[in-house]
Amino acid sequence: MMRASCVARSSAISASPEWRLGNGAERRGTTKGLRGCYPRGRAPEVPMAAAHPIVVRRPVFELDEQVPHYWFDGDPFATHYLNALSSVFPDGEAFFVRSVQQYRDRIEDPELRKAIQGFSAQEGQHSRQHDRHLKLLQQQGYSAIESTNDVMRKVLEWNLRRFPRLSLASTAALEHLTAILARRLLSDRERWIEPMDPRMAQLWEWHALEEAEHKAVAFDVLMQVAPGLGLRRWSLTLNTFGVFIEMLVRTGYMLWKDGVFFRRSTWASGWRFLFGERGFLRGLGPDFRSWYRRDFHPDQQDDGPLIEAGRARLAMQLAS
Ligand SMILES: [Fe+2]
Ligand SMILES: [Fe+2]
Repeated sequence: MMRASCVARSSAISASPEWRLGNGAERRGTTKGLRGCYPRGRAPEVPMAAAHPIVVRRPVFELDEQVPHYWFDGDPFATHYLNALSSVFPDGEAFFVRSVQQYRDRIEDPELRKAIQGFSAQEGQHSRQHDRHLKLLQQQGYSAIESTNDVMRKVLEWNLRRFPRLSLASTAALEHLTAILARRLLSDRERWIEPMDPRMAQLWEWHALEEAEHKAVAFDVLMQVAPGLGLRRWSLTLNTFGVFIEMLVRTGYMLWKDGVFFRRSTWASGWRFLFGERGFLRGLGPDFRSWYRRDFHPDQQDDGPLIEAGRARLAMQLAS
């Protein structure tokens, strides 16, 4: 069964005080608000199975000095690349929430308004939990991350004030990237989750699951507020370039602090991690480029089976 909509999506919300899953949240979709969402009336075909409730969870992870320094398979490059990613989440996700919330009053569709609420609550939790990881990195002596984040926060705030539509488009674009990476983590646990220290594995798997659940919210808001194809395309190009550079700089800094920056083995391992067989970024081209299609919608990629499996694993962790 197919449906066509830019708001027909994961808009049911379930609030959970801790790790409880489901909570009677029902899968549902809507075609309300369709008109005007896409340029020239081109609404995409979205599989019905793609609609998922946004479940708000409030997990508590044991992120302390017990976590090994190189928590990803004992590998300095892989660990610091993921540390770099984690270190931008506290401010980055707060920016996502603000860039979407600033348009909340312009959204008439009640389902999308509820989805914005769920998206904001989930991202707020991500921001909090990754902030705890950030504190751990600071304790480990990576002090420049704090000052870099201070600069980043100011730049993001300036962007929000000066370019609100570009901020929203950037959020939607970055949500496309996080959805792709979430799919990567959830679809190959043996390669990405299992080599992690169990405490970090819980953090990343939970975050990946929720990114998959709310992946279309910012996009749907963008399609209502500024559906222009040019803005959408440029925002992904600019942000991908920016994120790639930012990750390399942060990773390089932490490797330098550890005294392994100039080791050939560090970069050989880094190349394998990013681009080798089953590499982190390898083979992402088709998913990445789908964004540039005129009729793209995040829910065209059905993450339903990954979401269901992720929820089942979280439920097991809660029960144990
Ligand atoms: Fe997030
Ligand atoms: Fe997100």
